[in-house]
Amino acid sequence: MAATSKRLEGKVVLITGAASGIGECSAKLFAEHGAKIVIADIQDQLGQAVCEAIGLSNSIYVHCNVTNEEDVKNAVDTAVDIFGKLDIMFNNAGIMDPYKERVIDNEKSDFERVLSVNVTGVFLGMKHAARVMVPARSGSILSMASSASNIGGATTHAYTCAKHDVTGLTKNLAVELGQFGIRVNCLSPHAIATQMATSFLRMDMESVESMANLHANLKGVTLKTDDVAKAALFLVSDEAKYISGHNLFIDGGFSIVNPSFNLFQYPKNI
Ligand SMILES: NC(=O)c1ccc[n+]([C@@H]2O[C@H](COP(=O)([O-])OP(=O)(O)OC[C@H]3O[C@@H](n4cnc5c(N)ncnc54)[C@H](O)[C@@H]3O)[C@@H](O)[C@H]2O)c1
Repeated sequence: MAATSKRLEGKVVLITGAASGIGECSAKLFAEHGAKIVIADIQDQLGQAVCEAIGLSNSIYVHCNVTNEEDVKNAVDTAVDIFGKLDIMFNNAGIMDPYKERVIDNEKSDFERVLSVNVTGVFLGMKHAARVMVPARSGSILSMASSASNIGGATTHAYTCAKHDVTGLTKNLAVELGQFGIRVNCLSPHAIATQMATSFLRMDMESVESMANLHANLKGVTLKTDDVAKAALFLVSDEAKYISGHNLFIDGGFSIVNPSFNLFQYPKNI
């Protein structure tokens, strides 16, 4: 997609989990809009390949396990060392635990692993972004939640819990950093066919999309990584300059419907 106007010209962005899926798509879109990109991930070959696709003068790959504070600190410092500053931090890396119907079958180790990446990883990204953004008196921090940040019963206990936590962290940090002109927001997409979703559901990409569409509120469209990247682009850009503490749902209304009421059913022949 050719950018009609460059909305991130001169900005330096760090994206965690950008070796694949939504993070990769966002990295490419942000680069098209003029940003310098630091890709932080644990899949080194894939991350390096994304950099090569973007262009090595505009991007760099850093090995970074978001649960490791030294790694996160190093990724932020690399952005500043190589590109001179950090304007935008996108805490996107996330994982999911295996689905088990009963809580008694859930392992503590799985629960802690999910919280470690999806919550502690976000906290560390926020902390080290704030470390360099506060002295600069500007910045935008975006984190990845999910439609599961608002509803129960759509995914595992650990994942639902973690994504609720991301919204809490977002609100708290938006309050703390507002005095420095730093905005803090999060995104909540509906299910999208990515590596994470295909392995969780044990389905191919097409079947994940069919399943997501079947359970969607908004019909006739399929949510793609590109749609999430575009929403991310808006929230981190200056077009959203007065939006902070917000959880933007990209879910076609999925998380605000209680389908059991079934109030607005049209006859099939309309
Ligand atoms: N796909 C969906 O249906 C969906 C819906 C809502 C929210 N999300 C969220 O979107 C984000 C991106 O997921 P995706 O769907 O693109 O999946 P994905 O598996 O394609 O991408 C996740 C990326 O995070 C990286 N990662 C995992 N653990 C890491 C760690 N410890 N340190 C650094 N990087 C790590 C992976 O290597 C991978 O590149 C996640 O936070 C996920 O929870 C996904």
